[in-house]
Amino acid sequence: MKDSLFIKAAFSEKTERPPVWMMRQAGRFMPQYWEIKNKYSFLEMCKTPEIAADVTMLPVDLLGIDAAILFSDILVTGEAMGGDLSFTAGVGPKFANPVRTQADVDALETNVGDRLQYVADAIKVIQQRLNGSIPLIGFAGAPFTVMSYLVEGGSSKDFKLAKLMLHNEPEMAHQLLSKIATVTADYLNLQIAAGVNAIQIFDSWAQALSWDDYTEFSHRYIQEIISKLDRKDIPVISFCKGSSVFAPLMAEAKPDVISIDWNVDLLDIKNRLPKGIAVQGNLDPHILYADKKVIKDRIHRLFERMRGEDGFIFNLGHGIMPDIPFDNVKYAVEVIKEFRY
Ligand code: CP3
Repeated sequence: MKDSLFIKAAFSEKTERPPVWMMRQAGRFMPQYWEIKNKYSFLEMCKTPEIAADVTMLPVDLLGIDAAILFSDILVTGEAMGGDLSFTAGVGPKFANPVRTQADVDALETNVGDRLQYVADAIKVIQQRLNGSIPLIGFAGAPFTVMSYLVEGGSSKDFKLAKLMLHNEPEMAHQLLSKIATVTADYLNLQIAAGVNAIQIFDSWAQALSWDDYTEFSHRYIQEIISKLDRKDIPVISFCKGSSVFAPLMAEAKPDVISIDWNVDLLDIKNRLPKGIAVQGNLDPHILYADKKVIKDRIHRLFERMRGEDGFIFNLGHGIMPDIPFDNVKYAVEVIKEFRY
């Protein structure tokens, strides 16, 4: 795998063009996803290795992207710790037993590798299907983002309860975050042992935090997780929404790649990072709703800006929205794959 475009770019080596994959590529914008989804619940899909492999392979076969990402969810760690997780159409993820008190935190389990074995099984099936063609990215949610779902009991606009726990009950919040960090490091090492070729940590809601709170309640746990990984030759990507602000701090956790949101000029932020840290990003996903000439123009604009830079992986600044036209995503991948530095 070390000769693949994606792994080379992740380790800041020269490539003839930027590699491409897109966050949330294994999902709802593909009509073929719905053919599977109409037959099973989301968690059934995640927990049945053959089905998880089928969905992982959809964007590989239909789009020809340069890296696959495991079909799963960041909330499976919360479920394994004791969260009563469900996904309902139109509602999104729900934990029926939110974590709000010290007793709730104490009840969460941390030795949960057995409960996540289905992910290792899925990884093995996916690697047979990929057969060495492109790398497979494994992933997990960052502690603060997973905590926000556990405390709120589901998605939230303002993270009021999760932030209130940080501010009013910092000791309890640290115990909760520390438990999630322990589970997450073990879980990512389980994925590495099962055969993933790269790791991404998603801290989707870090942008809700002030600099001080991000430092105390998010960054330090991501740093702990990364320091515990059996990295071998496996690149680690750190993503957060808010990376245009937090990237210099994220770099201190020593990831190989930082995935950047679309609020910042990608070259400017790369130049502010230590040498040897690659960047991934950072097209506004809304561009994929626009006309094809706009899509092409904006991709070329980004690539011209990054021309001559080693260590650049094309991605969106956040995940693909479910109603983005499939044809536009396919077109974007074609434009990217035709480009040469
Ligand atoms: O990137 C990929 O395609 C791989 C699979 C993947 C999923 N979720 C599948 C999924 C990944 C990497 C995730 C990560 C994830 N899950 C994040 C971080 C990424 C990000 O976009 O910030 C977050 C915050 C979650 C939590 C979560 N899971 C949400 C908010 C939702 C959607 C709720 C909704 O209905 O809008 C999910 C469900 C989910 N995870 C779906 C998929 C394909 C949709 C399930 C369905 O078909 O209904």
